[in-house]
Amino acid sequence: MSTGQAVHMNQGEGEASYARNSTLQSGEQNRMRPVIEEAVKCLIKSTKSDGKIAIADLGCSSGPKALALVSCAVDAIFQHYRADREQVPPELSVFLNDLPDNDFNVVAKSLVAFHESDQRIGLVTGGIVPGSFYKRLFARSSLHLIFASSSVHWLSRAPEDLRTNGIPMYDGDDDLRQARGPLVLEAYARQFKNDLNLFLNLRAQELVSAGQMVISVPGRCASDGTCHKNLAWDAVACVLNDMATREVIDREKLNSFYIPIHAPSDVELREIIEVEGSFKINKMVVHEPKSGMDKSSITPKMIALGGRAVFEPMLVQHFGKSDQIGEEFVRTMEQHLSTGRSEFPPPGLFLLCVSLTKMV
Ligand SMILES: C[S@@+](CC[C@H](N)C(=O)[O-])C[C@H]1O[C@@H](n2cnc3c(N)ncnc32)[C@H](O)[C@@H]1O
Repeated sequence: MSTGQAVHMNQGEGEASYARNSTLQSGEQNRMRPVIEEAVKCLIKSTKSDGKIAIADLGCSSGPKALALVSCAVDAIFQHYRADREQVPPELSVFLNDLPDNDFNVVAKSLVAFHESDQRIGLVTGGIVPGSFYKRLFARSSLHLIFASSSVHWLSRAPEDLRTNGIPMYDGDDDLRQARGPLVLEAYARQFKNDLNLFLNLRAQELVSAGQMVISVPGRCASDGTCHKNLAWDAVACVLNDMATREVIDREKLNSFYIPIHAPSDVELREIIEVEGSFKINKMVVHEPKSGMDKSSITPKMIALGGRAVFEPMLVQHFGKSDQIGEEFVRTMEQHLSTGRSEFPPPGLFLLCVSLTKMV
């Protein structure tokens, strides 16, 4: 990342790892399944795969769930060829991408286990592709299916204009925060627009004609015109503000801390895709963040541990205090959620799942 921010989830498979604390993201991967199955059908109907299909997950992170989306696509492809015995099943390659600091050791083990447990002829492991999805990752016209869950809302960098104008992501002063909220949101939206434009352009080069892409990001509904917050990080910033007030972290450091994620509105997302022009939108599905999940498992502690798994590397890099900051973050977030100071999901936050076909 150009700002040098430590963008990776907590590594390994221990207590604080992303692998063990990503139930909410897994919930969205499950909700994406029918959309992925439809994308596979669409692909098989409309493209000539020449006996091979290449599938990539971008921003896969680590842990067993890194393979959830590609595995869903592999199942759907084999199901199709089982039903139509006249056709020879294609050879499949799967590629898993994330930033270089991701824990690829865990991913490599999951990939090997997936390959070994799957005896179906034609399944060929592709491999691991470290690098930013804001650069070209694959050869031209080499991919048939691309998936990305809870990753494309990560920006290539936090909005530089906020930093240069000394506008913090989250003002400690309530009035200032209210007044500057729309400005901050606009700066994030501009950065997201630039980044998503680039992402779409790069993926359009890598996909075959009529190739399919399914992405899901946290987002908002534009009809909720009153929301001037970045819902992707507002609750986290509120926790950090509390920690700064209690002098657990340094207020000045908080004022120069920017979380590089943006939750777009449905209209914003649709408009960027349409104007960029490489893809046709097949459908956009709006998911409620808890739908299809066991609601009793979604406790304040579970959400706080999930937040820690995502943000701890970045917090340690910026604020230091590596042994305390994660623990204190969990304690504070759990308390905010238990006392109603914040809510999960924050009102107005949804997951926007969009299915796209690359135009010829
Ligand atoms: C919240 S995790 C989601 C992981 C997984 N897709 C899931 O649904 O559980 C976001 C992932 O996106 C990755 N990511 C963020 N920016 C990226 C970029 N520019 N290129 C590749 N991966 C990126 C992060 O490193 C992280 O592993």
